[in-house]
Amino acid sequence: MAVNDPTLFEYTSRQLRNLCAESGFPASDNTPVEMLGELLGEAGKRRLSEGPLWPSDVADDATPVEFSVALDDTGDRAVRVLGEVIAEKPSMVANVAAARRFLNSMSERLGIPTDRFEAVQDVFLPDVPQGKFAFWYSMIFRPNASPKLKVYFNPAARGEDRAAELVAEGFRRLGMEDAYDAATEYSVSRGDLDKFTFFAVDLDDSPLSRVKLYISHFSATAEAPVQASEAVDGIDRDSINEFCDLLGGGTESFDGRPLVSSYSFVESDLKRPGNYSLYLPIRDYVADDVEARARVVSFLESRGGDAAGLDRAIRALTDRPLHEGRGLLAHVSLRLGQFGTGTTIYLSSEAYEVLPTRPGSGTDS
Ligand code: TRP
Repeated sequence: MAVNDPTLFEYTSRQLRNLCAESGFPASDNTPVEMLGELLGEAGKRRLSEGPLWPSDVADDATPVEFSVALDDTGDRAVRVLGEVIAEKPSMVANVAAARRFLNSMSERLGIPTDRFEAVQDVFLPDVPQGKFAFWYSMIFRPNASPKLKVYFNPAARGEDRAAELVAEGFRRLGMEDAYDAATEYSVSRGDLDKFTFFAVDLDDSPLSRVKLYISHFSATAEAPVQASEAVDGIDRDSINEFCDLLGGGTESFDGRPLVSSYSFVESDLKRPGNYSLYLPIRDYVADDVEARARVVSFLESRGGDAAGLDRAIRALTDRPLHEGRGLLAHVSLRLGQFGTGTTIYLSSEAYEVLPTRPGSGTDS
């Protein structure tokens, strides 16, 4: 065995520790890494050379976690980990059971309230879930604050044809019956090309805890998100056009991985979403990570943001040359609305694999 063959937990915990340090977390705060260890469970104990235990769709190389850095326009930032819990003997059913145990343990340890999970779980978790995943978590860390947990359910867990029904029922269970109409009025006008992707619930009981609905717009121009954003008051269409143009590098029609819209609802206003976010899977629209980084830098600069922070976040994860691969920068998102605006950069761990650059279009020379 090669000397340098860390386990998945060793590899990703080092990345997370670096990212937290770089984001101003006290070095004594071990909670993020401990939670990552619990989330990864048995999958985390395998050496990278053994390959992934389960083909997780969280990331392209089947790593069951993806990092993100959320930059609020107020200057605050959060480090987040999107992750899938994988059972020791994985299967869709066994993974769900393991993921529930993770939640129980987090609720005991950190007092994470589970009532919103309980309210919708039987809608989204049939005995044998269909699709690419049953549910994922996002762990959200801010310096000197308690960690938060968010859960992402799969609207297609009972088949794609029942996704709308599950989403409507999910909102109803949470006492938000009007949210379904508000969320679908502007966002799903293109038939099968607009699909519900995630139904996500913040597991906390603050008045601002959110329910989010994500919609993927396949083969769309910027017009689909511009229209979708009209469900939220006061959003300027230029900021969406500019985001698509700068990060898409002039792409007109996003025919690779889809643009994704999301709406956030809070309990104090059930009739209209308070925020709109747009996600752009930048890795499908660049030659390599040099190009992805350059686009993100121009975007951050156009919003008066901190481009140096991006490079520090990248170097927290890897020292590989950016021209040697594609997909370290996986998505970029823009958050708009009354509950805060900002940008989030999604960074791949690349624990198992680095995606190749696009032949013939590399920016290296
Ligand atoms: N890997 C999947 C995808 O790219 C799921 C996913 C991970 C995702 N992070 C995301 C989707 C951020 C949208 C936004 O589709």
